[in-house]
Amino acid sequence: MKKILLSSTIVFISIAVTYSQTSFVGAGKAVNPFHYEIVKTKTFSKASVASAHPLASMVGAEIMKQGGNAFDAAIAVQLTLAVVYPSAGNIGGGGFLVARKTNGQTIAIDYREEAPGKASRDMYLDKNGNAITNLSLNGHLASGVPGTVAGLFETYKYAKLPFKQLIQPAIDIAEFGFVITESQAHGFNVTKESFIKNSTQTPAFVQHNKWKAGDTLIQKDLAETLKRIRDNGQKGFYEGKTAQLIVDEMQRGNGIISLNDLKNYKAKTRTALQFNYKDYKIIGMPPPSSGGVIIWQMMKMIEDKPIASYGCNSTKAVQLMVETERRAYADRAEHLGDPDFYKVPLKEITSSTYIKKRMIDYDSTQATPSKNITAGNVKEHDETTHLSVMDKEGNMVSVTTTLNGGYGCRTVVGGAGFLLNNEMDDFSVKPGVPNMYGAIGREANAIQPGKRMLSSMTPTLVLKNNKPYIVCGTPGGTTIPTSVYQTLVNMLEFNMSPADAINSPKFHHQWLPDVVRVEKDFNPTVRKELSAMGYNIVETNSWCRLEVIKLHTNKQQEIAADKRGDDSVAGF
Ligand code: DON
Repeated sequence: MKKILLSSTIVFISIAVTYSQTSFVGAGKAVNPFHYEIVKTKTFSKASVASAHPLASMVGAEIMKQGGNAFDAAIAVQLTLAVVYPSAGNIGGGGFLVARKTNGQTIAIDYREEAPGKASRDMYLDKNGNAITNLSLNGHLASGVPGTVAGLFETYKYAKLPFKQLIQPAIDIAEFGFVITESQAHGFNVTKESFIKNSTQTPAFVQHNKWKAGDTLIQKDLAETLKRIRDNGQKGFYEGKTAQLIVDEMQRGNGIISLNDLKNYKAKTRTALQFNYKDYKIIGMPPPSSGGVIIWQMMKMIEDKPIASYGCNSTKAVQLMVETERRAYADRAEHLGDPDFYKVPLKEITSSTYIKKRMIDYDSTQATPSKNITAGNVKEHDETTHLSVMDKEGNMVSVTTTLNGGYGCRTVVGGAGFLLNNEMDDFSVKPGVPNMYGAIGREANAIQPGKRMLSSMTPTLVLKNNKPYIVCGTPGGTTIPTSVYQTLVNMLEFNMSPADAINSPKFHHQWLPDVVRVEKDFNPTVRKELSAMGYNIVETNSWCRLEVIKLHTNKQQEIAADKRGDDSVAGF
């Protein structure tokens, strides 16, 4: 049963259950997995968390109440999402973290999945050299070596509380259950056949009857895996029983991840990208994510234009921004990949001279056609997840993590209870062949053993006059950088609140295919005017779910979670 109260800023959804359970999560027992609310926007004075699920946000806030900092909270939120948001929250996937400590230190942690040792460049091609995309999307062979657990322990270097305190809420919720939302019930129902087809043991998400909102999901195997991580640290996942269960699962399917692949996996600390935009400093993720580079290029392409005077989502602003998107994504396809395997010309493509040159052929009256188009489809219902956290000291943590597609490759590790990713599809399986997001790539992103596939995930921070200002990010595959870009421009140029900046209709261009994707509520007059200028406009379902925190000069933290999902904020 659902109760929805709408006000201008807050949506509450409380899920009533037929039996009563007391709150049990956290020392303060403040989180009740059987009764929770979705809160879209609020202002807090000490600590804020926004994530894709109310329970995860509440656990993050509770951890900060118990004395944890933003890093503690980010770890606990990710572990909770692995339980309460299995479509994208994960321990079988990977992600990126961008953070800034209150002392000014910036941190970028890369825990992207990597290609197994037995992977090879043409592993998804048939004997005639044609791509068999199903193999990189569904089932065991689609999975890269998971990075999330290593990423959590790399992050833990900056945390304060005992790790067992951060993981216990996730263990409790997995063991005793939580009530699912309507969209989760729908997700389990429509994915049922795919879970059955791609798993060798029946996962907890599959039940005989149709799932409905308010049903309880219990995940005993996952709880045991989390306990092994609690008791043995990183080795509780990458070695011993969990590692063996993963390899056993690989052997029951057509997978190639080995014990050595798991044992050798390491999260990597990289140097965060930083550039100035007017009075702001923007901090982003470097390759193997393309996100930071794309944001850098697009922001710099508009910096000398009077975009504030054009107005948010006006024809002039959208036309300009679409042209910057087109140019940045053309570079993505050619130049970006794992820097440990391919020499990414980072300095060159982020230099002011280069970026200026890219806009030389910009024409404000018409579309610049993308050449050599290979059409690719952008699919719906894909899932990644983002969380934004800020603590009372001003530590800022921005994390985007994913299994790639919704529920990854749909293979649950038998006996371990977690889903594996289908991140191998983010490689360029063949030069010029689009992946599930329609993105094409070449040599820079070709498959090699141990290499990390190019990502679009864009966890981002903004400083104003060198002080914490914005924490931001979103899921959405290749649309991630453009959604973050538009949200930043909405806030920095159009002076919009976090909620308005997030919820304003988004548009997306990624060079190829040469179309502008728009959300359903995008202004019809602007659409018509853009079409007249030569743009091919395609309306699709929404794709982003942004989580944004803005720190005001009076130290108040204004936080907003996207209206498009069950996303919710918490804090105090
Ligand atoms: O790393 C990437 O770019 C993709 N694997 C992200 C997938 C994604 O965002 C799906 N979400 N909606």
